[in-house]
Amino acid sequence: MAVELAVRLGKRSYPIYIGRGLLVSDDLLQKIVAGRSVIIVSSEVVAPLYMGALVAGLEDRVKATVLLPDGEEHKNLTILSSIFDQLVAAECDRSTLLIALGGGVVGDTAGFAAACYQRGIAFLQVPTTLLAQVDSSVGGKTAVNHPSGKNMIGAFYQPEAVIVDVDTLSSLEDRELAAGIAEVIKYGLIRDEPFFVWLEENIELLLSRDADALIYAIERSCVNKAEVVAADEREQGERALLNFGHTFGHAIETATDYTRWLHGEAVAIGMLMAMSFSERAGSLEKGKSQRAKSLIERAGLPLAPPIDMNAEIFVKHMRHDKKVLGGVIRLILLRDIGDAFVSSDYNDEQLISELSGMFSE
Ligand code: NAD
Ligand code: GLY
Repeated sequence: MAVELAVRLGKRSYPIYIGRGLLVSDDLLQKIVAGRSVIIVSSEVVAPLYMGALVAGLEDRVKATVLLPDGEEHKNLTILSSIFDQLVAAECDRSTLLIALGGGVVGDTAGFAAACYQRGIAFLQVPTTLLAQVDSSVGGKTAVNHPSGKNMIGAFYQPEAVIVDVDTLSSLEDRELAAGIAEVIKYGLIRDEPFFVWLEENIELLLSRDADALIYAIERSCVNKAEVVAADEREQGERALLNFGHTFGHAIETATDYTRWLHGEAVAIGMLMAMSFSERAGSLEKGKSQRAKSLIERAGLPLAPPIDMNAEIFVKHMRHDKKVLGGVIRLILLRDIGDAFVSSDYNDEQLISELSGMFSE
């Protein structure tokens, strides 16, 4: 039996199913596919692991399968165009259902292809990394990268459903699992203190991939994300809270050319920096960041930025983040564990001064 949640967006509402064995049980898939033709987009790494189960469950509905090369460097317009070529070659029409099977790179790229092909075809997210299961498959952000920046070309385009089969996590590398756990911890920190406490009590179970613990953590993460997206689909306000730790994290990723840390690892460091910043700014009681630091450390995630990154380098990269609006860098800070807010109170000089203070502590 799968846990079923809803992302409530009026006519574009959709379910998220979370459970074990969902890719091998035909019932759910057949119900969603409902007799339509299907095209599956996956990757060269994920397809050999899970495509067989998916295809077997869909009988003769699959018109074609599209395999993308693995890695963030292939999340680009060239690959997007090759997906369109294959959709055309397979004679997909507007009634075709596109299934995205893979991590966030596959989900974002295939989702954007679905948004554009013939002005939009239905798509189903089947995320196979923890990060994709708790974050990227939910909420309708789809995109590819441009040489000038990540996710620069994309659309808000909601899937028809999300199927999270936690059994797919059994093949995920430990480091990728921990990177997903960083995003799970984020939900506790920004808006769900009881979930943060649960994570403090159960982090070892999650790391050992206990299925019930994973299902619970994914469910709580998706409930939080679904509530935020339902309130602010296009990131005019509250949805920005989901970027907690990301402004600092993106600065670290760009300064290190995306080679040193995975996204979730950089976010973990960024969340700790945002908490230290909150303590210095006086919004968060001193010492509270220690709880987050201890949990993030137990998850095996990194705790500090590279020692050669100073305050000026951070602000330079933070300024180039596409979430900078009207030249103002928006920081997501905490009032407490479970209570985040957006602050645009800092100009570059103040930011450099606060960050310099943090680094010299
Ligand atoms: P990813 O898709 O690159 O997957 C990480 C690695 O795990 C890849 O090598 C992949 O082949 C492999 N993999 C996937 N599933 C596996 C499995 N079950 N077993 C073994 N290996 C598996 O990275 P990711 O962390 O899933 O996603 C990162 C991407 O998501 C970035 O492009 C980021 O911009 C995007 N993202 C989007 C949103 C959104 O709201 N749309 C949110 C967060 C991140
Ligand atoms: N990952 C941030 C968002 O979906 O808004």
